[in-house]
Amino acid sequence: MFAESLKKWYSKNKRVLPWRKTKTPYYIWLSEIMLQQTRVAQGLPYFLKFSEAFPSVFDLAKADEGYVLKLWQGLGYYSRARNLHFTAKFIADELNGEFPKDYKGLLKLKGVGDYTASAIASICYNEPVAVVDGNVYRVLSRYFGIAMPINSTKGVKEFKELAQSLIDQRDPGMYNQAIMDFGAMQCKPKSPDCTSCPLSESCVALEKNLVDTLPVKEKKIKIKHRYFNYLVVISDKQTVIHERVGKGIWQGLFEFPLIETQKSIEIEELVNDEKFITLFSNEVNIKLHNNENIIHKLSHQHLHTKFWVIETNSIKGKSISWKEIMSYPVPVLIHNFLKEFKVEID
Ligand code: ADE
Repeated sequence: MFAESLKKWYSKNKRVLPWRKTKTPYYIWLSEIMLQQTRVAQGLPYFLKFSEAFPSVFDLAKADEGYVLKLWQGLGYYSRARNLHFTAKFIADELNGEFPKDYKGLLKLKGVGDYTASAIASICYNEPVAVVDGNVYRVLSRYFGIAMPINSTKGVKEFKELAQSLIDQRDPGMYNQAIMDFGAMQCKPKSPDCTSCPLSESCVALEKNLVDTLPVKEKKIKIKHRYFNYLVVISDKQTVIHERVGKGIWQGLFEFPLIETQKSIEIEELVNDEKFITLFSNEVNIKLHNNENIIHKLSHQHLHTKFWVIETNSIKGKSISWKEIMSYPVPVLIHNFLKEFKVEID
């Protein structure tokens, strides 16, 4: 009944999306990786860019990682792009370009977890494995009136089991996409239109007035505040950027030399910083680009950022021209700065 109602709703209301025209695992994989933690409207232009730039897994495999990251720029969670590239190379080089043919095999790929393996296996191979994304949690917790936190270990297990027990065996791919679209368009997080909902007669949350309180999430982890001081060097149409290495945010992306501090600082503290002194031993002219900190919000961190524009007549180490900088993959924080700042240096 539940599955039938959803499928009926889907046949009338489904979104027309480019990856729904195909069952090719490469395109389904690409779209599902992009749509993790990302709304369809936001992911769609990236899917179009990637499928044009890399029409097959071989094209993606032989691309330069910097170019892959450049096209990914702005979509966030960059480990997804690195894993995507790694897995494309693995499939092209080790598997002859063929994706594994079932859920278990797909799960072994780097960057492919339970959600993505279920999505690909059900859509491409008709395997009855249920997807559980944010939309599915919401629909199930409301419809069945389940208050167990969706981000607890027990919750994850029980919601997966429930989802699995409800799946349509004949057309699991359609069912999985139906429940996701239903969650995104009908059973929305805020102000869902319950009066027009085909499941309203038997929805526990609606009956018990719990629509606004379900699903339940355990308390969020604390946001970490970080204080970034970027040193934007200008010297005869040249500047300095580095690739960010090591674990943590933005691995593989490029940024200006960075001084991270415990709190927001003023110019006196900047010029007395050890790293600053090492970088600029001679006379420089410093101007703060943004009077107010720019606060860049990531899922678990807020980056309070100052861009210090530093004019000097000698650069230590490797420099690049301002013209070249736009071809490097950079975090959105830097990209936005460059867009604004470019006007001043052109
Ligand atoms: N969100 C992520 N993947 C989706 C899909 N295949 N259909 C609807 N929503 C989605």
